Amino acid sequence: MFDKILNEFSTPFYLYKEETIIAKTKLLKELNLDFSHKFHFAVKANPNLAILNLLKTQGFGAEVVSAGELFKSLKAGIDPSEVIFDGPGKTEFDLKYAITQQIKSINVENLEEIDFINEYSLSKGLKTNIGIRLNPNIDADTLEKITTGKSGGKFGISEDQINFDRILEMKGVQLSTLSVHIGSQIVDHQKLIQSYGQLILLADQLNKKNHIITNLDFGGGFGVMDHSDDALDFVEWQKELENLLQGKKYHIIFEPGRFIVANSGELITKVLYIKSSGNQEIIITDASFSEYLRPALYEINPPVQTLNNSKELKNYDIAGGICESTDFLAKNIKLPEVKVGDYLKFINVGAYGSSMSSTYNSRPRPLEVLMGQNEYRVIRSRDTLEDLCKNEIM
Ligand code: LLP
Repeated sequence: MFDKILNEFSTPFYLYKEETIIAKTKLLKELNLDFSHKFHFAVKANPNLAILNLLKTQGFGAEVVSAGELFKSLKAGIDPSEVIFDGPGKTEFDLKYAITQQIKSINVENLEEIDFINEYSLSKGLKTNIGIRLNPNIDADTLEKITTGKSGGKFGISEDQINFDRILEMKGVQLSTLSVHIGSQIVDHQKLIQSYGQLILLADQLNKKNHIITNLDFGGGFGVMDHSDDALDFVEWQKELENLLQGKKYHIIFEPGRFIVANSGELITKVLYIKSSGNQEIIITDASFSEYLRPALYEINPPVQTLNNSKELKNYDIAGGICESTDFLAKNIKLPEVKVGDYLKFINVGAYGSSMSSTYNSRPRPLEVLMGQNEYRVIRSRDTLEDLCKNEIM
């Protein structure tokens, strides 16, 4: 089927395997965690409607960070009561939309948000469930650029800044959730457990003082690495987590993004040119950082494969056609020798691949294809040139 797809569509395109996504959801579900819980897919990892709908059918809710992600989740069939809204910079528009949809929880990360949600909810005759995202000051031991739980960063609120008594008096909000998310690509389960522990401690304390915290949102971050097989030890993670929650009655929310979709996706691209520059051989592909930003943004070399039979390994950089020096997809990697016209396949790019793509240099955003057991279908058509002008006024 892959060859057929390759023949049918021009590159670059993203190709996802439905089976892999379902296997990942099963893996989590089949842990059979012994406490009340639900998985909410972090939509930012891959907001394609077909993927959101697939996850809905697997029993997942959604975790969103913008009105757009909320809209897409609802459009994909996810019930508002299964949506969590996070994010350190929610606009009034975001908040009003989330409030009127009466979603499961708006997790606030700024003190001013609480007053706005309270007042707007009262003006609409509503009471809105909120959560507070804690900044636990934990270093998740992941890439510096994707760590989010340290003091000094923009995420969450530190416990000592929150006037919990005042929130109790507000009639337009119900504080029912505490949340934490310390970063992405985490493989040290102890870091996660540490952050969960802090949340449980605070929730227990608040519930002794007339609060009714029923949900603990433990965020996402389950690691899928770019280059190693390092992974979270789910056995240990589960053991320690079940211990922490023994005798407690909290409903636990998890927000995995990358773990669910990363391994399902490939980016297929074609070699346009090969040039020697100084001592370096540079492959120039029809994919660039507009289609796949992570290597340029986080300075990582993503795993890439060739589709030819060449045995001879050569040293290459891989770059796109964007007029920027940072437009590299890989640096100094060994690959079987490639020729102009060959295909390259970036693997494990189902998360934060297409979702971080842009139209920079006025490049159409790529096509996306979802492959099932016996069939495949386009789940996002390539932007047309007209699409690039949409919304612009001459
Ligand atoms: N919950 C919250 C509040 C988040 O901020 C995130 C991700 C998640 C859940 C899902 O995290 P995951 O399970 O996917 O690790 N663009 C970066 C990753 C940024 C993640 C941002 N927040 C990358 O490509 O590595």
